Amino acid sequence: MDEVAEAVNLTIERLLPETDLSEAPLYEAMRHGTLGGGKRLRPFLCMQSASLFNVPTSRSRRVAAAIEFIHCYSLIHDDLPAMDNASLRRGKPTVHKQYDDATAILAGDALLTLAFEVLADPETHPDPHVQCQLIRSLAVAAGGHGMVGGQMLDLIAENDDVEFDVGEISRLQRMKTGKLMAFACEAGAILGKASEQQRKALCNYAFDLGLAFQVTDDILDVEADPQDTGKDTGKDEEAGKATFVSTMGKDAARSRAEMIVAQATRHLKIFEGREEMLKELADYVLERRA
Ligand code: IPE
Ligand code: IPE
Ligand code: MG
Ligand code: MG
Ligand code: MG
Repeated sequence: MDEVAEAVNLTIERLLPETDLSEAPLYEAMRHGTLGGGKRLRPFLCMQSASLFNVPTSRSRRVAAAIEFIHCYSLIHDDLPAMDNASLRRGKPTVHKQYDDATAILAGDALLTLAFEVLADPETHPDPHVQCQLIRSLAVAAGGHGMVGGQMLDLIAENDDVEFDVGEISRLQRMKTGKLMAFACEAGAILGKASEQQRKALCNYAFDLGLAFQVTDDILDVEADPQDTGKDTGKDEEAGKATFVSTMGKDAARSRAEMIVAQATRHLKIFEGREEMLKELADYVLERRA
């Protein structure tokens, strides 16, 4: 993971250089929200998946950076006062605290569009068909059918007069977190022109993994230390979020996460031993402290 983080950080640095143009504060805010922190888990998924099909890392790390741009945009907007109203992210002030709300909104917007600019670049893949598949799949994963739709459900579920059951919470969390992770794995398969079966298997694995990842995020929100997570804790209960933890308690949520992770790794069987790293990552999702 450290190696991937290093590679993707260099790529992000190259795609988002400092500037002395008059609109420099926009780029500073984009750099603040993307560089200097983050586990780079989605880039890891993308690069691992791509490596199953021997995709050159010069290609996969650009797609990994594009996915991280979408993820960082989602965090910048998620932290805004109108959403989760958070002041700490990756051990630093959130983008709207460091700059202001308008700059944070625009930095998110610019990262969102930059992601698609990168995918459409021949340097990412020379085949326009591959470019289009990447662009379409990321659009589906990030938009109303995916991350943004899930974020809407997350806010709706905060209302006192709305009660989400476990099935509805699973759907919400798969949308807001699972879809982008599924794309990270799918992208490796698209870059490698993998078979439909391989692509589906990777998507299903990461879609389950994303749900488990969100469940452990919600557990960390109640039991972790901000010094470890780099973000304020205890926020979900305060906001009245609908999570596995809020409906079934921490211990049952952890057992659920374990079940979901076991289910996730079963999708990888078809790779006949080459999926070891992705399997280890699934264990990491359960054990992580940050
Ligand atoms: C946080 O994601 C938001 C969720 C989907 C739970 P990460 O835990 O991957 O955050 P970073 O990128 O490491 O900061
Ligand atoms: C955020 O979930 C998921 C996104 C799509 C951004 P959270 O709101 O729980 O993420 P954190 O805890 O702020 O990182
Ligand atoms: Mg949120
Ligand atoms: Mg949040
Ligand atoms: Mg959280």
